[in-house]
This record gives sequence, C-alpha cells and structure tokens, in this order.
Amino acid sequence: MCRKLVAFVLFVAGFCSTVRSQTQALDAEGHQWWQHAVFYEIYPRSFMDSNNDGIGDLNGIASKLDYLKSLGVDALWITPCYPSPQVDFGYDVSDYENIDPMYGTLADFDRLQQGAKTRGIRIIMDFVMNHSSDQHPWFIDSRSSRTSAKRDWYMWHDGKGSAEPNNWVSTFGGSAWTMDFKTGQYYYHYFYPQQPDLNWHNPAVHDAMFDVTRWWYKRGVAGFRLDAVDTLFEDPELRDNPVLPGLNKYGDPNEQDLYNTKLPEVHVVLRDLRKVADENNAVLIGETWTKDVNELKQYYGDHSDELQMPMDFLFTKVDRLSPPEFRRQIAAVDSAGGWPVFVLSNHDIVRSYVRYGDGQNNQAIAKLMASLYLTLRGTPIMYYGEEIGMQNTDPVRKEDVKDPIGRMGWPQEKGRDGERTPMQWDDSPNAGFTRGTPWLPVPLIYKTVNVASELKDPSSILNVYRSLLALRHQNRALLDGDYIALNENDPNVLSYLRRYKNEAVLVVLNMSSKPQQVSFDLAPQGFDAKTAHTLLTTMAAGSKASSLSHLPLEPFSVYIGAVSK
Ligand code: NOJ
Ligand code: CA
Repeated sequence: MCRKLVAFVLFVAGFCSTVRSQTQALDAEGHQWWQHAVFYEIYPRSFMDSNNDGIGDLNGIASKLDYLKSLGVDALWITPCYPSPQVDFGYDVSDYENIDPMYGTLADFDRLQQGAKTRGIRIIMDFVMNHSSDQHPWFIDSRSSRTSAKRDWYMWHDGKGSAEPNNWVSTFGGSAWTMDFKTGQYYYHYFYPQQPDLNWHNPAVHDAMFDVTRWWYKRGVAGFRLDAVDTLFEDPELRDNPVLPGLNKYGDPNEQDLYNTKLPEVHVVLRDLRKVADENNAVLIGETWTKDVNELKQYYGDHSDELQMPMDFLFTKVDRLSPPEFRRQIAAVDSAGGWPVFVLSNHDIVRSYVRYGDGQNNQAIAKLMASLYLTLRGTPIMYYGEEIGMQNTDPVRKEDVKDPIGRMGWPQEKGRDGERTPMQWDDSPNAGFTRGTPWLPVPLIYKTVNVASELKDPSSILNVYRSLLALRHQNRALLDGDYIALNENDPNVLSYLRRYKNEAVLVVLNMSSKPQQVSFDLAPQGFDAKTAHTLLTTMAAGSKASSLSHLPLEPFSVYIGAVSK
C-alpha cells in the first residue's frame, strides 16, 4: 500500500492539468472560490484546547492550521464562539460582535484569521439569526416592560385565557411559548426557552442583524453558515399547527410545522443577505432542512440570488450503503440548478463512521464514503474528526449528558454529545486535546484512532482523505467536470464519470461486502479508452492501469482512474 500511495502522488503530479490559485475570483468555467473549496466544520469546544481548561479555543484552532492546510482544507466553518451562556453550547448568543472569553478574544480571532489567510484558508462564521440568548441585552430590555423600546424585537403575545397563544411546540421539547410573569405575556422560542426568537417582521431587527454581518465582513470573514433559516418567520395570525398522530420523543404531540417554518418571507431576507454577501465576495451556507430537492431548490432563489450553498442533508438520511438510493439523491441534487453541497455529518448528526459502518468493515466503509462525497460535482463540507474515522461516543447514563435535549428526551433522545467529543490528536492522555479535564470524555479508542498514528500509516483513513483532497484540488475533471451516472442498474457498485472536455475521471465504489466485477463502455460518453490510469484505489491489489472491460473490486473498495480520449 505504501508503494501504491507514493505512486498515486506521482500519478497526480503527472496527470493534473491545472492548479488553481485560491485568490482567483472566477475560473474558466465561471466558478467562484467556494465552488472549489473544501469546507471543514470546527466545533470549537472540541477541537483543541490551548489553555488546558478542558474547552477548545481559538488559539487551539490556530495551533492546528498547519495540519488543516496539509489535510487540504480551504475554508473553516467555526460554529458559534460568541459570548454565550452556553445553554445550547453557543447557539444562544448574548453578543453578536465579540468572542466568548472561554474561546479567547477578538485579537485571538484576528490572529487566527491572519494565520489562516497566510495559508490560503478562509473563515466562515456561524450566524445564529433566528434567536438570541435570553441574556442578550436586546432581550433583557425587551422583557423589562411592555413598553420597552425593544419589546417588539421578540415575539410577545397574550395567552388564550390561561393557555399559551397557540399549540406550537418547541423542537427541543415542550411548548414553544414561555410565560414571563413580570409582564404577563408569553414569548416565543422555537428552540430552548433561553433562545427567544427574534421578530424578523420588525425592520429594526432586520437592520441590526444585517449590521452584524457587515461588522464581521469588515473583520475579514468570507461568509456565514446561517443557522436555522427555516424558522425565521411565523404566521402573524398565530394559527394552530395541524396535529399529527402520535407523540414525539419529548412526549409532545407530533405537529406539522405549517405556520412556524419555511414561510415565504424567509426568501426576502435571504435575497437581502445575498446582496451584502456579494459586495464582500462572501458565501452563504444555509442550514436548510428540506424534505426533497424541490424544497432545496427554493433556497438557491428563483434567480440564483439567495443561498449559494444550501446544505443538502438528503445524504444524511440515506442510512445504509445503497447505490440506488445514493444515485437517486445525487441525480436529484445535481439537476437542481444550483451548486450541490454535500454533508455526511455535523455537530447535530450521528457521525457517518457509525451510520454507515457495519461493525466489521468500518474503516473500508469510511474510505468509501470519503471517496463518494469528495469526488462529486459540488462542494463538500467535512466535519472535524471524520478524516480519522471518529465515531459517536454517546453517554450511557442520563447524569452524564451535557446536551439539554439529551436530558429532556432521555432515553429516546440521548442528545448530541456523542458526535461532539474532543478531536483525537495523538495517543497521549486525552488524545492531546487538553491537559485539563475535557468537557466531554475522550473516547478510549483514541489510543489508535488519532491524527499522529494515522499520519504514519499510509493506508489510514486520514491518508485516504489527504490523497482525495489533493486529487480533487488538482484534477480538472474533478473540479469542473459534469457528473454522469454509469451502470445505473448495478445494485452493488456505485459508478460515475466526472467529465471535463477531453478528460474524465471514473469513480467506482463497491458498496457491498462481496467482491464484484464491473465493466464500462464509455463510448457513449465520447471515450473509447480501454483502460483507466489509476489515480487512487483502496484495493490491496491495485495496479497502475486497469481494464475497463474487466475491473475486479474487493469488498467495500474504491477505484478512481483517469480516462482520456
Ligand atoms: C442548529 C444548530 O446546528 C444546532 O446545534 C442548534 O441547537 C440549533 N440550530 C439552534 O440554534
Ligand atoms: Ca481552553
């Protein structure tokens, strides 16, 4: 395998036809920087702790920039590091224009950003726009009296007799309304009671929040990941949501969130935000939970004037290695008209390593999944630790749960601690994350699953990620090529071509536990080649060139090869 990886690097160097500068505004295809960038999500509490208080911080991230650069990452999305009471671990912001002392200072942020810039890495901030913390001065003012100047910055309503204003439930459990006894009205919160929803119908809220984005653009950030965009607006008439059969995991009635999510006004705000982003060569990534590609399409905007990168979570719903299902999802998003965005997991979603792993071949499967989302037409957003095969480590006792939804929904809902455990850097105590007590326990497997050990192992998941990222940055077909599904009736092997002019890359992914053999006729795609030039394979028996009419595949293996005319 070692020899093979060395050979792989040489193949890439010989084959690549272009290497693009990260600062170039548009490439020959009119693509912008974010279309060729690989994004990497950092959950700052868990990435690297520089001052040994057990909580990751900005200086910790800065100390790992060389690692991120060598991995092949172009942009970091840092989840909220603003001042916050941390009820929802930062998604409850009490000051949008500062850094929480537990993560550092604005000066640390500037240094981090400068260090990243020197390495050609951009920083994307998380914009929590639906709600603030109940400790934000805006809300403190708003709740102080019915006549406060900020009263209408949040959603205050009278109850119906002694009951809540309507039947809306919080997605984190219980009613979405909390009574404030001092002023005798209810306020609305789609999430925790400590996360009151801002009233986006109020132009003053709109202006203040837009100023926040300008403030960060001036500081140099390259865009935002927009939190919970679906929930920005609510029905002014507060109509009851339709009730569905059954109870959810918190014991509340199931509801269709008809009147409190995805209201058309969201798109007006997104169009406005896009104008400001465009003035700053910035990208907007959306946390967009959509039931299908038709819904996803709406977030690009009718005139491609809303989000450049609405996240497609549909992959995260394919919970088994099913070539037909992946083919269907890829085809749908590829033809949606916007630039596809691929996500396998994040700080709210069980890690892909366990979602797709079968318990016996998880390493091979992790490489297979990496090869899938890093070779498709579109932008991948990685989640920290995915590149070393970090797994979920869920709490086993309710008293150990940190994430409040895990305490409320236990045992059905264990919360999100499991996918947020500290990054595993090496085999020293606490995986080198901290010399203090880590805020979440470090999984014991860190002794072998860690960056330092995997860097030394040529066939590790980490080295496959590094090879894939190097390839996708340098290979013209992977950067700009079309996606063409191949062998569409194959139930076991997912294959496709990325075609750019006279070049193409063939990607073959055996999603089954059995050896397979595949053959390709690429004449309809304009390629009469009989062999492919191997760029990357996870097979033990890989060779420099492979026959297209007879390509044997080991279980869960990957073959990526170049074909030319
Ligand atoms: C989505 C974030 O990803 C999640 O972690 C958070 O709890 C909610 N939005 C509320 O902000
Ligand atoms: Ca710290």
